[in-house]
Amino acid sequence: MRTRDPAIFGEQILKGEEYIVAIDGPAGAGKGTVAKYLATYYRLKHLDTGLLYRLLGYKANEKNVPFDNLQALMHVAATLDFNDLQDPRLRDESVGNLASQISVFPEIRQFLTSMMRRFCQDIAPPYQGAVLDGRDIGTVVCPDAHLKLFVTADPKVRAQRRNHEMVAKGSAFEEQDSLSKINERDQRDQNRAAAPLVMAGDAHLIDTTNLSIEQACEQAGSLLEQVLPF
Ligand code: DC
Repeated sequence: MRTRDPAIFGEQILKGEEYIVAIDGPAGAGKGTVAKYLATYYRLKHLDTGLLYRLLGYKANEKNVPFDNLQALMHVAATLDFNDLQDPRLRDESVGNLASQISVFPEIRQFLTSMMRRFCQDIAPPYQGAVLDGRDIGTVVCPDAHLKLFVTADPKVRAQRRNHEMVAKGSAFEEQDSLSKINERDQRDQNRAAAPLVMAGDAHLIDTTNLSIEQACEQAGSLLEQVLPF
């Protein structure tokens, strides 16, 4: 892991240009961990874009909005607030599934994409850029990002990681159950017509199947340093 002081390092990065890093990949591959690492070390604002889909799914479910009623879903979308993304309930696997279900609607995707782009336009010191992680950041949301990463891992390894997280949180889970949920989510995210999960042609692949968290972050940091102007 890097030993440089992020505060000092951050000073050197930007000369009036805001750096955008786009990270995409399937559930449980480690893209959030890599995004948080880059955000800390390179003073980037971080947006986990899955949380916007999760917040919409959560709120719609709370209000008993049927998931096939696009107009009602759009009304809920109009009430979303970035300040609500910290709610720990959004992290539940069940909410991830709701998010995946509503993410198939192009109108909803367009609306949330505008929110993400607004986030990128609102960068002020101490931040010197932004890192967004999700499914379509490099392909749709930020096609001109300075750096695009596609973080993936074998589904079995992703399911094992999810299990360890669940055990750490105190809930028991069947490994097979996690794997089938991961497979189901992969299927839906990769096969939907609107902005499916695909690797952008100019993205760098980081396969974390056999990497430690430190190794994955180190690879991402090295790739970012290659596009920085010093
Ligand atoms: O990254 P996550 O597991 O929190 O995302 C939840 C769901 O939201 C995911 O299964 C699909 C959807 N999503 C999306 O379609 N596009 C994004 N940029 C982020 C998430």
